Amino acid sequence: MIYLDNGATTFPKPEIVRKAVSDSFAYSANPGRAGHKMSLKAAETIYNCRSKIADMFGTDKPENVIFTLSCTLALNTVIKGVLKKGDHVVISSLEHNSVVRPLEKLCEAGIITYDIAKVYENDNDKTLDSFRKSFKDKTKLVICTHASNVFGNILPVSRIAALCRYYGILFCLDSAQSAGIINIDINEIGVDFLCAPGHKGLYGPMGTGFLIINSNTIPDSIYEGGTGSGSSVLTQPQILPDKFESGTVNLSGIAGLSAGIDFVNHKGLDSIYHHEMSLITMLYRRLSQIKGVRLYTAFPNKGSHVPLISFNIDGIDCDEVARLLDDKFSIAVRAGLHCSPVAHRHYNTEDSGTVRVCPSVFTSRNDINIFINAVTKIINKEKFIH
Ligand code: ALA
Repeated sequence: MIYLDNGATTFPKPEIVRKAVSDSFAYSANPGRAGHKMSLKAAETIYNCRSKIADMFGTDKPENVIFTLSCTLALNTVIKGVLKKGDHVVISSLEHNSVVRPLEKLCEAGIITYDIAKVYENDNDKTLDSFRKSFKDKTKLVICTHASNVFGNILPVSRIAALCRYYGILFCLDSAQSAGIINIDINEIGVDFLCAPGHKGLYGPMGTGFLIINSNTIPDSIYEGGTGSGSSVLTQPQILPDKFESGTVNLSGIAGLSAGIDFVNHKGLDSIYHHEMSLITMLYRRLSQIKGVRLYTAFPNKGSHVPLISFNIDGIDCDEVARLLDDKFSIAVRAGLHCSPVAHRHYNTEDSGTVRVCPSVFTSRNDINIFINAVTKIINKEKFIH
């Protein structure tokens, strides 16, 4: 199998990640709940991962790193923990349903309103302008994806964050497609809340994600329970990270994520990004030369795109292209709307969907060559005989 669905989750996971997950079962006691050696070892593993995340994203407060089960849960924590009746929110026109659906729910309940600021590819000034024009007196929060999970374009997040700061608006960055791929310093960008998955660019197991709180505005908790701390008190502790980590944490997942971060640090973000961008630019160039292939974005330059692209083949449904790639060529991609109908609306692909291709650090130029040959054969409707 040639796996080009790394935008959904990276595969394979590095050997050190698998080993860390497997090794964690040798000390799988409940962290923070007891003083025995196994519980302490588990707590140390969790803390080490928290520290590595803090280092990677530029904060000196590991306690402000909150483990979640996914980037979606991190986003929900911000959205439902920060917003109050009457608040207004602005999001970009490339957001994922993990942002849009919780907002829609709050809208339907009459609690908030939100607007979508149009992103202009290759014109950051206009993008900034559309955010500025969407702001209202009641705007409390801007949520912005760092890079589209469907089209790969990077948004001018530092400038949007600066605008938010100027207007006294909180800025939440969805780094689902950028964490582990491009360097993110939350203080340099000016991020109040960073939401990230552990299982994509950081090569951890599925079921891992985190929120970094880099603001004096601490969200309300969206669920409560045992934390192992202050147990005599019946109300939720307010200290971080306990406020947001009720229930037993995902020790084996976090052990794997910790090893995934080591893997990424060892390879180096620049080298990972360079490798994957060289593949995606090769792919874009080759696809753009094939008659019948429709591409949607400008050329994916370093700095303007993360390594993923969407395309369609004229006259063939995107799901059928993905099925043929899987069945006849053993190539895994994701087709359809990628849980981002708003982004598809932006590119007028809401009815058709697209085929999305996303390499990882393990993808080779040969994989891309095989992929191009497969697309060519599908277009030429050749008999798919190996
Ligand atoms: N959000 C993930 C994707 O883009 C699952 O495929």
